[in-house]
Amino acid sequence: MKQSNKATRGIKRNHVIIGVLAAIGFSIAFYTCNIGFDKKEAAKNEITPLTKHWEKAIPHQEIPVGLTSISAESCGACHQEIYQEWKQSTHAVAFQDLQFQAEWKKDDILTCLNCHTPLQNQQEFIVKGLINGDYKTPLKEPNPRFDKKLQLESITCATCHVRGGNVIGTIGTINAPHKTVKDPEFLSEKLCVSCHNVIDELNPVLVCTFETGDEWENNWAKKSGKTCISCHMPEIERPVSTGMKKQLSHFHNFPGSGIPKFFDTEAKKLESLEIEESSIKEMYLVGETIDYVLKLKNSFAGHSVPTGDPERFFVITFRLMDGHGKMIKEVEHRIGEEWQWYPVAKKLSDNNLKPLEERVYNFKYDIKKQGMLTFTVEIAKHRMTEENAKYNGILGKYPLSIEVFKKQYCIKTE
Ligand code: HEC
Ligand code: HEC
Ligand code: HEC
Ligand code: HEC
Ligand code: HEC
Repeated sequence: MKQSNKATRGIKRNHVIIGVLAAIGFSIAFYTCNIGFDKKEAAKNEITPLTKHWEKAIPHQEIPVGLTSISAESCGACHQEIYQEWKQSTHAVAFQDLQFQAEWKKDDILTCLNCHTPLQNQQEFIVKGLINGDYKTPLKEPNPRFDKKLQLESITCATCHVRGGNVIGTIGTINAPHKTVKDPEFLSEKLCVSCHNVIDELNPVLVCTFETGDEWENNWAKKSGKTCISCHMPEIERPVSTGMKKQLSHFHNFPGSGIPKFFDTEAKKLESLEIEESSIKEMYLVGETIDYVLKLKNSFAGHSVPTGDPERFFVITFRLMDGHGKMIKEVEHRIGEEWQWYPVAKKLSDNNLKPLEERVYNFKYDIKKQGMLTFTVEIAKHRMTEENAKYNGILGKYPLSIEVFKKQYCIKTE
């Protein structure tokens, strides 16, 4: 999700007083402390119903028979390995994520929570509609069953596995101590796509643009039966629960970009790029040309790369330095989207690598004098720009990029 940097500054807030609202019901005009907002205007307010799936929380879930809690921690008592894998995933910290906290707090947009803490149990408020269709003024009431601890588990086991008093699985086991139903259709890529594919405008400066599902729809991956789950939840043979016999299981770390969320941790990465280089000689003569070609192909991802969050990008850097470490020539290329966020959010360009798309980068340099040269090729994947991190007040607190590829060549020139 990306929000305008400029537009959110100086916005007048409609502070709806919840107590009053709850007491009088929502057909009556509400109290507001917005300057210049008189009673006549208030009467014009209309409640817009929530119609899109991501505008609503997943309804409150009860504890399935046989269990005492739906927290991931409690599932982890028996599903230990799966719990440990999930705990290291970005799903497990989608709420605590520093950028998320910085962004959604700006305008308290409760809609954001529907994908980051999706169960109603995890949300402090029940949202019934939007006042005048504005996401910044939801018609809300306190949730008496709000579970603060579950909120901190973000996209938790129960998000994907608990519905209507059942644990949903794909095995059809008879060995579970909890009520279980088999529903492979529910636990398919449709579940992933419900959050990973939303293209909508919340308001002119706030847009949702995750197109990973659509990108996957029409390419080799889908045709060959590769889904979000087969790539991001690879199969492993192991006991699914402590003390049980080995069977087919799925890795629950949801590896992706590999950019960690915290400085002292590592994130598992999936490789999307097939990288091919032309050769570099050890020695060149003055007058000769270094002519280096780097070929990148999105061979392994079933969608564009980067995908999802429009702030992500790759940077390819070529650097030629002399024997004293002085820069002779530096060239940078970027793969990603570029957006204008103000006065209206608009995509300006997009050179993301489509599935199986190939791109060729060329570096040329005419050797002018004798000596030693160092040539470096680097590919880095970035979560966001330093400028955006600074704006969100998280620069220095949040890992922004990882190195995907690095090669260094020492070249003698005569
Ligand atoms: C309830 C919404 C929701 C569902 C369902 C969901 N995701 Fe996610 N997913 C997210 C959010 C939000 C993030 C980002 C978390 C963050 O970065 O803080 C994310 C992050 C990811 C990432 C990590 C991206 C990275 O590199 O940082 C991968 C991979 C991923 N999801 C795959 C999947 C797959 C596969 C499924 C289906 C089995 C799935 N997701 C289901 C919301 C969801
Ligand atoms: C007291 C131990 C225990 C707890 C707690 C527990 N489970 Fe299980 N679960 C099991 C056992 C045992 C199985 C069956 C494993 C087998 O068949 O090998 C199982 C099976 C499953 C399955 C597969 C079902 C199928 O048929 O596909 C899922 C999914 C699952 N559990 C999710 C959860 C979730 C989510 C929680 C927490 C809300 C949880 N479990 C809590 C012991 C437990
Ligand atoms: C983002 C969704 C998502 C989350 C979060 C998630 N799972 Fe799963 N889980 C799945 C999917 C999808 C499958 C089935 C994959 C298949 O069979 O194709 C699965 C399978 C399982 C199974 C069956 C054995 C296996 O590995 O295939 C168990 C048990 C299980 N999950 C437990 C858990 C527990 C415990 C947690 C929390 C610690 C958890 N899951 C979190 C999506 C999720
Ligand atoms: C054929 C394998 C494959 C399939 C199918 C696939 N992915 Fe991916 N996905 C990858 C690889 C590889 C990456 C790593 C991209 C990179 O950073 O190089 C990735 C990265 C991601 C990311 C991180 C975004 C980024 O650019 O950093 C998300 C989120 C994601 N995938 C979600 C999904 C969802 C949702 C689906 C299903 C609609 C899906 N993927 C289907 C292989 C796959
Ligand atoms: C429809 C579901 C959905 C809604 C609603 C939603 N998000 Fe997300 N969010 C996602 C998914 C999916 C990802 C992971 C995208 C990826 O990695 O490709 C994500 C990732 C993020 C990230 C992490 C980006 C990164 O680079 O790791 C931030 C920050 C974020 N969202 C903020 C917000 C804010 C603020 C709102 C409300 C204005 C919001 N989200 C609403 C689904 C959603």
